[in-house]
Amino acid sequence: MDRLTGKVAIVTGGASGLGKESATLMVQEGARVVITDINSEAGMALAEELGQNAVFVHHDVSKEVEWVKVIADTEKRFGRLDVLVNNAGVVVLADVENTTEEQWRFAHSVGTDGTFYGCKHAIAAMRRAGGGSIINMSSLAGIRGYPAIFAYSASKGAIAAMSKSVAVYCAQQKLRIRCNSIHPGIIRTPLVEAFQKNMREAMGAEELPFDKASQGRPDDVGWMVVYLASDESKHVNGAEMVIDNSASVTEGFVPA
Ligand SMILES: NC(=O)c1ccc[n+]([C@@H]2O[C@H](COP(=O)([O-])OP(=O)(O)OC[C@H]3O[C@@H](n4cnc5c(N)ncnc54)[C@H](O)[C@@H]3O)[C@@H](O)[C@H]2O)c1
Repeated sequence: MDRLTGKVAIVTGGASGLGKESATLMVQEGARVVITDINSEAGMALAEELGQNAVFVHHDVSKEVEWVKVIADTEKRFGRLDVLVNNAGVVVLADVENTTEEQWRFAHSVGTDGTFYGCKHAIAAMRRAGGGSIINMSSLAGIRGYPAIFAYSASKGAIAAMSKSVAVYCAQQKLRIRCNSIHPGIIRTPLVEAFQKNMREAMGAEELPFDKASQGRPDDVGWMVVYLASDESKHVNGAEMVIDNSASVTEGFVPA
């Protein structure tokens, strides 16, 4: 109940799926959480549901100027920033030969650019707070080859590499700021449901090979976020935390 008492966190893309669950569990564990998203309706409803330790701020992570404002607002409201969860992400369904420039830039503007701006501006605020934890949402797609989601995979790979660079930079600078990436397999969220629907339509198939595969629940990722946000993970830095019920270390699909 009090694993995060006293900590102040920002969760981007916090109105839905993994961000929503992470924000909910963080509040449950005693943190004060700024939920940010471009979906104001869902974000405000969640903040209201979570009570006085949660607020919603409209925030497009692809715009650096908005990051400056969100972090300043957080410090003004709660006095500090201890945890940033760079969670917002968008999937583009296209292989390397069929990815348009627009699709490539869209996936990177939210995933890669958003995570870069978040790390950059959170470090300054966490330095003022005396330390912190940056948690970047990558994916199995950032580690393995998934041809149908080329731009998304490239962005998730960039996020994994960025996380290690930030981790080492902060350690060398003695900032007491840690940075880790999380690599979920398939977790049932609105993003995955939309992706599976689009895949079915694209393939003209009733059932997809991975429909019968093991799928996690949002709290499987949310509890990892709580762990990385807490001081329990004080010696975990620059790590790739995989949450996939063994999908990345076996052949084929792990049965549900
Ligand atoms: N669900 C999975 O199986 C899975 C697996 C691996 C990685 N991930 C990653 O986890 C993260 C969350 O995914 P999810 O499944 O909860 O998706 P989701 O679609 O349920 O939630 C994503 C949220 O991000 C918000 N968002 C989109 N663009 C934004 C922007 N420019 N600025 C701010 N917010 C924006 C959306 O409004 C939405 O609320 C993503 O980075 C995704 O790539 C998910």
